[in-house]
Amino acid sequence: MSNTFYAPGEQRAAKVNDLFARIARRYDFLNDLQSFGLHRLWKHRVVDLAAVQPGSHALDLCCGTGDLAFALAQRGAETTGLDFSAEMLGVAKERSQNKTPHSALRTPQFVQGDAQQLPFPENSFDIVTVGYGLRNLTSWERGLDEMFRVAKPGARLIVLDFGKPANALWRAIYFAHLKMSVPLIGLLFCGNASAYAYILESLKHYPAQLAVADKMRALKLADVRVINLLGGAMAINYGKKPA
Ligand SMILES: C[S@@+](CC[C@H](N)C(=O)[O-])C[C@H]1O[C@@H](n2cnc3c(N)ncnc32)[C@H](O)[C@@H]1O
Repeated sequence: MSNTFYAPGEQRAAKVNDLFARIARRYDFLNDLQSFGLHRLWKHRVVDLAAVQPGSHALDLCCGTGDLAFALAQRGAETTGLDFSAEMLGVAKERSQNKTPHSALRTPQFVQGDAQQLPFPENSFDIVTVGYGLRNLTSWERGLDEMFRVAKPGARLIVLDFGKPANALWRAIYFAHLKMSVPLIGLLFCGNASAYAYILESLKHYPAQLAVADKMRALKLADVRVINLLGGAMAINYGKKPA
């Protein structure tokens, strides 16, 4: 059965934007609930892989409410978070304002824009991350091309997203969880089952970690790695733009 928030082609972005506008206020709470808090560990892993150096410039695409952007900034990177949803960015900006004066010194800059058409020149960033974003783009390949374009030589490109487990039994169990428990959590705590049923629908249309790694190799990234988490239910793709 198709999902209210999924449409192929040109209508996709408007539907995705509508989805995140509706759930922005409950997004962080629901993330903790549906992942049992594990998304925090996975994001931590992304930030470790980013290997922030003094003076690093970091870009976090599809930053949403800002988890990765805040974490990169806390490690000392001059960080920009980009998202096309005014509502998700609104929550990120409120989080910035609630920081203590000390931690506010390291606060990301939040920019509204399209991850498939970045408003930055080429070779601008030492780190380019995207968490749970690539899967939502009309063209995930175009998103990766843009990540590559704005990355400096030697920059780390890191993608965190839902994955597709290689083991058929585990995949079936995991997809059943995404089909039943996750929309139920969405209905009970956000009043919106479809918004959470969208995760499985979007994953079905996303070729996930192996294809992302192939695309990274096609872009001639170095040190391309797939880090499977929870048996491939989540995955981190890593690659370095050649120096
Ligand atoms: C699942 S949320 C991820 C938020 C955050 N990165 C995290 O890990 O918690 C996906 C985000 O991607 C954003 N998004 C989707 N398509 C986009 C696009 N074409 N350009 C910019 N942002 C986009 C949505 O607005 C939403 O905030």
